[in-house]
Amino acid sequence: MKIKYAIVFICIVALVIIEKESNILSRVSDKLIQRQTPQQTPQTPLDYSNTTQKGSLIALKMLLSKLSGPKGNYSNFSEEQEEEELDDLSSYSYSGGRKHILLMATTRTGSSFVGEFFNQHGEKMFYLFEPLWHVERMLTTTAKTNNGTVLVGIYRDVLQGLFLCDFSSLEKFISPPPQDHVTPALFRRESSLSLCEENVCSPVIKDVFERYHCKTRRCGPLNLTLASESCLSKQHHAIKTVRVRQLDTLQPLVEDPRLDIRVIQLVRDPRAILASRMVAFSTKYQTWKAWAQDGQVPEDDEEVKRLKVNCDHLRMSAEVGLSQPRWLRHRYMLVRYEDIARYPMQKAEEMYKFTGIPFSSQAREWILRNTQTTQEASGIYSTQKNSSEQAEKWRFSIPFTLAQVVQRVCGPTMKLFGYRFVDDEKTLTNKSITLLEDKLFY
Ligand SMILES: *[C@@H]1O[C@H](CO)[C@@H](O)[C@H](O)[C@H]1NC(C)=O
Ligand SMILES: *[C@@H]1O[C@H](CO)[C@@H](O)[C@H](O)[C@H]1NC(C)=O
Ligand SMILES: *[C@@H]1O[C@H](CO)[C@@H](O)[C@H](O)[C@H]1NC(C)=O
Ligand SMILES: *[C@@H]1O[C@H](CO)[C@@H](O)[C@H](O)[C@H]1NC(C)=O
Ligand SMILES: *[C@@H]1O[C@H](CO)[C@@H](O)[C@H](O)[C@H]1NC(C)=O
Ligand SMILES: *[C@@H]1O[C@H](CO)[C@@H](O)[C@H](O)[C@H]1NC(C)=O
Ligand SMILES: *[C@@H]1O[C@H](CO)[C@@H](O)[C@H](O)[C@H]1NC(C)=O
Repeated sequence: MKIKYAIVFICIVALVIIEKESNILSRVSDKLIQRQTPQQTPQTPLDYSNTTQKGSLIALKMLLSKLSGPKGNYSNFSEEQEEEELDDLSSYSYSGGRKHILLMATTRTGSSFVGEFFNQHGEKMFYLFEPLWHVERMLTTTAKTNNGTVLVGIYRDVLQGLFLCDFSSLEKFISPPPQDHVTPALFRRESSLSLCEENVCSPVIKDVFERYHCKTRRCGPLNLTLASESCLSKQHHAIKTVRVRQLDTLQPLVEDPRLDIRVIQLVRDPRAILASRMVAFSTKYQTWKAWAQDGQVPEDDEEVKRLKVNCDHLRMSAEVGLSQPRWLRHRYMLVRYEDIARYPMQKAEEMYKFTGIPFSSQAREWILRNTQTTQEASGIYSTQKNSSEQAEKWRFSIPFTLAQVVQRVCGPTMKLFGYRFVDDEKTLTNKSITLLEDKLFY
């Protein structure tokens, strides 16, 4: 016992000395305070008083464990390590608080499927499926505001509101406008478990048709006040979107001291995306089909240019994330759809680890159920498919000419993500040749 007390005493003395030397603790607490100062929402001061305590406690514990390591050797506590340590601490300081996950994807990248990893987490998660759909629909139909720069800012503001459980910024874009904060028109309400829970489920109203009504129970139109209350009661918030194109536009959101954001960018082989879109959005892709028949693709066509822009956005976002700018440190993760298809459980585990949220048994079970099934797919938006088989299917549906076009237009993007080029149709359709490089992204 005496020895134990002695060790603790030495540690504390050492801590005091070190603290005097380098002001670590004051810098840590500066950092904590800095992140938590400007707040407007009423609930935050309460929230953070606890987080701060926990945060500093953890900070202290970590310093202690550092100092009281196996040999008690703390002579090497260099400036550089300290920097690293502080960064870790700043993310540790939130382990007691909320986590905000933004799943950033494009269409046909399996984002509904990956979104479920979080939707299915359990009662501590508030998940929203594609809320920006309303914004895009309203703003792109009114031509005047159809301005990329403006749109980007609005997306960011709406996301910010939603992460803070404030639906008012979204309400402005719901059509028809909600009455008394009640709407039967919320896009894909049923895709969010938390919007169909009992305490968000108001009584059915006769003759009100809700297109995206809950499947798990019979509910009336969505009362957004109840949704907001439910959101506030949940520890973690996740939003899936395919509408944010450029990661750097999110910087103000990520830097918001009221939020603790983790961005997961989901990517997929652009050839597979094109093949999948040609099936899912058949009428929109008539031109591509015609080109495939002709064997001629006019590369200065608007469609091809759009493909290039999309690919460039994917790549530029990933480049921003992977370069780890200070505002994104420990907050960005790149995930390939193909890896999720091959190792769903492992990837889900990695994603949860990255977000700092415990991987719940509910989520685990959902993944098990939905990746091992032999059932036939029940629709193009279905997530219930044999995922590893699904990931390769496009190789047999995309005309080789179009694969070549994608390779020319999206070359740098494919290289960055580790998607191999094919030079002939035989290679494209030969299943024993993989088009995926094993690649780790840090
Ligand atoms: C803060 O902690 C106290 C006691 O541990 C608890 O009663 C209170 O509800 C917590 N507040 C918040 C906002 O979590
Ligand atoms: C502590 O680290 C210093 C510098 O690396 C080394 O010279 C010394 O032997 C170490 N002491 C112990 C007890 O490991
Ligand atoms: C201390 O730092 C030196 C040089 O930076 C390194 O060679 C040594 O292994 C470190 N010692 C410990 C215990 O980390
Ligand atoms: C979009 O709007 C911003 C601000 O109103 C303006 O500066 C910019 O020139 C506009 N861009 C286009 C393409 O209209
Ligand atoms: C929506 O829920 C809130 C909170 O329970 C309640 O005060 C309000 O009356 C509800 N709105 C409608 C139109 O029922
Ligand atoms: C899923 O598809 C892969 C590839 O075709 C196959 O090897 C695997 O056995 C399938 N799994 C199930 C559970 O059907
Ligand atoms: C597929 O590729 C493998 C490995 O390169 C090769 O051995 C095999 O002959 C190819 N199959 C066909 C049908 O071309």
